[in-house]
Amino acid sequence: TPKTAHLLTLFGATGDLALRMLWPSLYSLEAEGLLIPQLRLLGTARAKLSREEFIAQVGAALAERIPKNELKADVQEKLCARIDYQPAGIDDDVSMAALAQKISQLRGDGDVLYHMSTAPRFYVPACEALAKHGAVGPWARVMLEKPIGEDAASAEAINDGVGKIFNESQVYRVDHYLGKEGVQNLIALRFGNALFEPLWNSRNIEQVQITVAETVGVEGRADYYDHSGAMRDMVQNHLLQLLALVAMEPPARFEPTAVRNEKIKVLRSLRRIDSDNIAHEAVAGQYTAGAVDGVAVKGYVEELGRPSKTETFVALRAHVDNWRWSGVPFYLRTGKRLPSRQTEIYVQFKSVPYSIFGGPARRDLQPNGLLILLQPEERIELQLMSKTPGLDRKGMRLSKVGLDLDFHQEFANARKRLAYERLYLDALEGNGTLFVRRDETEAAWAWVDGILSAWQHSGAPPRPYPAGTWGPNAAISLIERHGHQWRE
Ligand code: BG6
Repeated sequence: TPKTAHLLTLFGATGDLALRMLWPSLYSLEAEGLLIPQLRLLGTARAKLSREEFIAQVGAALAERIPKNELKADVQEKLCARIDYQPAGIDDDVSMAALAQKISQLRGDGDVLYHMSTAPRFYVPACEALAKHGAVGPWARVMLEKPIGEDAASAEAINDGVGKIFNESQVYRVDHYLGKEGVQNLIALRFGNALFEPLWNSRNIEQVQITVAETVGVEGRADYYDHSGAMRDMVQNHLLQLLALVAMEPPARFEPTAVRNEKIKVLRSLRRIDSDNIAHEAVAGQYTAGAVDGVAVKGYVEELGRPSKTETFVALRAHVDNWRWSGVPFYLRTGKRLPSRQTEIYVQFKSVPYSIFGGPARRDLQPNGLLILLQPEERIELQLMSKTPGLDRKGMRLSKVGLDLDFHQEFANARKRLAYERLYLDALEGNGTLFVRRDETEAAWAWVDGILSAWQHSGAPPRPYPAGTWGPNAAISLIERHGHQWRE
């Protein structure tokens, strides 16, 4: 069993992710007293900065990211006292030797957590260089950012390369969605309540929708994004992880092997979408000029400055082919420049088998739904039918009401957390439950590859949709063809 790490070494320590998310998350852990006194934080990147210059960068990032009333000088001081910086180029052997030496000084005989917040092509060379200079042992573990590769073959190559240096149990693949409070709440909801399990199957569930809608465009990451697209950027990881958590069998324990054994079964049960059925099961879109929140925005191609067939929107009808889910569609949808930022899982139950109500109430009847909203706020709502209060000459009327669990009201001092707070805490402690295992990544890629290659084979470009709309019309027919509707 791993011990709590005494050193976190962050590659890409001056990068965008580090400054926006990682250092602020470490600050919050510090503020809550969750970092052990021995913990040292070593930043590394190519930039030849002194320790003071680097700490100044971190300080500026904290000031930008953390609300004024939460940013405390004494906490920041405590955090900065843990920080060191060592410039290194992964392909520069001399600098890696110096880095390794620094690591051995700082760790004493404690465990080390490496975090690769760099482009994926550096993961293997970085691990190899660390190993070459003696900075790897049973006391080390490594966090890898997504994306692991860009298809099943490149993912396998990365996993093989890293796997020569670290055992699988030492590798922590990040999907930051798993660190979101709302996602862990989904696990609590499913497995902390007896209420849902008897209903959680194809006899009682009509359809499931998973939506990750963003209002932002590609935001200065055009080079990465244009190479990737919504399928690789969002579906392969975040959406499929959410789907796996919704659909998995109850794991025997909430621990890494048990949970990941159940998720992988779901990913392997996904029905293949290929050239034969792609026209009916998948829609790709790309935004054109439009308006989001009343502000005019450019189209994707104008933003990029060159023609492109990259999809910025995907809608899919997926099936988990097993006993529990046979026949239940899982509609997945994600896109940039959609009308609102909204991440949700919606489970629609079957209609009542027979309506005892005549008259208007019969038409009022709607199926029950369970809505798990992750963003912009965290909320769980169980939608029930209830009598509309009052009298009506024609008889009773019904309306849909929500039993609402609003976490920010319920737990008054619950602060909105960054996903990396949970992920860092777990990785420092050596708990891999909320990280993705090699076989999961590869199974997800295999499924996504099938869709991407069917699209490529068809040669059809993504369908245009004006920015600020819910994607191309075909995404609506995809679901309405089967008698369902996207939740508004
Ligand atoms: C990242 C994607 O993994 O997730 C981005 O690369 C996307 O394109 C982001 O914007 C969304 O994360 P969140 O936490 O803002 O929903």
